[in-house]
Amino acid sequence: MDDKTTVKAGYNTIAAKYLTTRTEDSEDVQLLREFVQRLPKGAEILDAGCGAGVPVARYLSQFFDVTGVDFAEEQIRLARQLVPQAHFLCQDITQLTLAENSFDAICSYYAIIHIPRREHQALVLNFHRMLKPSGLVLLCLGAGDLEKDIEEDYHGARMYWSHYDAETNLNMVKECGFDIIWSKVVADDTSPGSAHLFVLAQKSCA
Ligand SMILES: C[S@@+](CC[C@H](N)C(=O)[O-])C[C@H]1O[C@@H](n2cnc3c(N)ncnc32)[C@H](O)[C@@H]1O
Repeated sequence: MDDKTTVKAGYNTIAAKYLTTRTEDSEDVQLLREFVQRLPKGAEILDAGCGAGVPVARYLSQFFDVTGVDFAEEQIRLARQLVPQAHFLCQDITQLTLAENSFDAICSYYAIIHIPRREHQALVLNFHRMLKPSGLVLLCLGAGDLEKDIEEDYHGARMYWSHYDAETNLNMVKECGFDIIWSKVVADDTSPGSAHLFVLAQKSCA
């Protein structure tokens, strides 16, 4: 089984269990408040690797027109049930061909860290392409250097992670054409002992 198939199969197996670990008031969810304040009402938002849509897509869809994308069918089935006001697509986020200038903002929580890191720059460049001028990204990226990690029992499934360290990630986001607004390392409540880099950045003016 290749690494992406491991991730997709894993989240199809643990979708409901993973959902029980997500809370509405954790520090990562609180970061969405500032993201919301910076965007116009009714803005078009892409949630890349949306999982079951809770808490992120559900929170954002109170204010915005949200499109969630995830390649795990069970996650998308739950998301459509739990967040009926949003739109959901079952696709690999590294293969998105949505039109350029489609979104006011793109957020991605805990999904990029499950994608082979050699693909991260192309993914962030594609986010840049899909954003409108001055569009925002709020991304969860790696905080430490980890070429590949496999855990045999992550909430009951085999799971894969891959990411760069925080400094490399911040340079990558800048090289993709974004100005960094802030970055923070935030503890991951679903995986005790681990923490990730959250980055809020704006598409640079040409
Ligand atoms: C840890 S969960 C996070 C879900 C949600 N963003 C949240 O904050 O609760 C990661 C999600 O990313 C999805 N994912 C990972 N790699 C993906 C890819 N290449 N394309 C689409 N979805 C992906 C997984 O299926 C999973 O639902």
